[in-house]
Amino acid sequence: MLSLRDVHLHIGKLHILQGVTLEVKPGESAALLGRNGVGKTTTLRAIMGLIPRSGGAIEFDSVDLGSCPAHKIPRHGIGYVPQGRGIFPNLTVLENLNIGLPGQRDSAREDYVFTCFPRLKERLKQFGNTLSGGEQQMLAIGRCLMMRPKLIILDEPTEGIMPKLVSQIRREIHRINQSGVSVLLVEQNVETALKLCPRVFLMEKGTIVYSGPSHELKSQPEIVHRYLGFTQKT
Ligand SMILES: Nc1ncnc2c1ncn2[C@@H]1O[C@H](COP(=O)(O)OP(=O)(O)OP(=O)(O)O)[C@@H](O)[C@H]1O
Ligand SMILES: [Mg+2]
Repeated sequence: MLSLRDVHLHIGKLHILQGVTLEVKPGESAALLGRNGVGKTTTLRAIMGLIPRSGGAIEFDSVDLGSCPAHKIPRHGIGYVPQGRGIFPNLTVLENLNIGLPGQRDSAREDYVFTCFPRLKERLKQFGNTLSGGEQQMLAIGRCLMMRPKLIILDEPTEGIMPKLVSQIRREIHRINQSGVSVLLVEQNVETALKLCPRVFLMEKGTIVYSGPSHELKSQPEIVHRYLGFTQKT
């Protein structure tokens, strides 16, 4: 479904991605983990065509994303929830939800989003900048779901969010995946990632240093320690 093969990317003279290879299969949920600054967000931005790669291949359902302009990539069925959420502060919840959809409103789809995140329905006319961090995250995920994606890419969706909403967001990510949508999740919380995602990629200095099933990683705490810098609780 999504495949990156030996992707390189430079920003100025900096060689940020140094050969990233990863794959997300249809219906699968995969986590991309690594310390701060290793290139996780840059990998996602490369997939979405927001920064040009300097080498390698990025494909989604046999479409070469590398030669696809950024604004067309969501149309192929990829939803992206960026780190920091990217909500429009001066638009309402309803306007934010529908921003990617040309023409008519899709009220059936709105209803689906509201069953995932009932809080959004209670706040339809509220402006983006008045929502709490957790609510903004729900809105950012909801906005992606409006486009009926086949794959949803989430960059640290629970960063800086109060614990009560964190568990709800995790539950919904799981449900979205159960409904058949593939997930690529960047997550700081390793426990969460291992619980939500059967496949894990570990990143270090712009390259993937480990990929495998999360149950395998659970039984190898030394790898988690080496690349993430702490010992995982089991
Ligand atoms: N526009 C830019 N100009 C210069 N350097 C950049 C730019 N964007 C990213 N970088 C550098 O690329 C490296 C990877 O950044 P990236 O944001 O992908 O890391 P990350 O793994 O997502 O980190 P975090 O966990 O903190 O979000 C960092 O060293 C960062 O400083
Ligand atoms: Mg990041």
